[in-house]
Amino acid sequence: MLVTGKELLDHANKYNYAVGAFNVNNMEIVQAIIEAAEETNSPVILQASQGGIKYAGIEYIAALGKLAARKAKVPVALHLDHGTDFDQVMLCIRHGFTSVMIDGSKYELRENINITKKVIEVAHAVGVSVEAELGKIGGTEDNVTVDEREAAFTDPDEAKLFVDETGVDYLAIAVGTAHGVYKGEPKLDFDRIKRIKELVGIPLVLHGSSGVPEDSIKKAVSLGINKINIDTDLRIAFTQAIRDYNEKNPKNIDPRKVLAPAKEAMKEVIKEKMHIFGSAGRA
Ligand code: G3H
Ligand code: ZN
Repeated sequence: MLVTGKELLDHANKYNYAVGAFNVNNMEIVQAIIEAAEETNSPVILQASQGGIKYAGIEYIAALGKLAARKAKVPVALHLDHGTDFDQVMLCIRHGFTSVMIDGSKYELRENINITKKVIEVAHAVGVSVEAELGKIGGTEDNVTVDEREAAFTDPDEAKLFVDETGVDYLAIAVGTAHGVYKGEPKLDFDRIKRIKELVGIPLVLHGSSGVPEDSIKKAVSLGINKINIDTDLRIAFTQAIRDYNEKNPKNIDPRKVLAPAKEAMKEVIKEKMHIFGSAGRA
């Protein structure tokens, strides 16, 4: 069933687990996520980035997401990942997304608060949940790169002020993760997660979560992370499976034969994540 992001994440916050938010770009990815969620009895978030929307088209992404959610035996939210402007957010709301992210992290605090408030006023009026971001998460996503010098951890006191002033439903924080493939092992600032959670109380979101060791993820969840974004690990599973299949079957000309193992490979990764995040069995 299709539900709001807030409904999923308030439950996760109350019972101390995290819901996986997986990036979608086509039908096989959507199916892999939903099948994994059903097999583990897990709530889940399908999220589309602006790049994903540009690739597939808003009508296709929205229709795929809504159909999958309505047919699913588990609760599913359809979320805009890293929306950077008001118009993009409105487009997604108009197409039936139940959760949107307004990423104003490139702005100064006051401007970030203002744009977030503007989005919330409209989104909340029509029952759509809102995620915002405070601090700068490093790495590259959809060709947007924040280099390590620019990346800045979230200040706990600013987070408190931000949440009080905006009334945002959940907040993405910068605590040492980065988008894309890690060069070394990511070191998370657990004290910062703990401090921010104590001050704001709302569900917290971890971006750049692919490649983060299992014990770090579990600790982050125990300290108050309730939404975990995964894109890169799915890309790797999908493309590696396609490479393997094509190497073994160079004469194949049936796209379904290539895509089926790619979907299965993704599904296995997603199921494993759902167990690590603690969302398995929570639907
Ligand atoms: O918003 C999406 C995520 O933060 C994805 O991060 O590509 O490192 O998995 P990732
Ligand atoms: Zn992200």
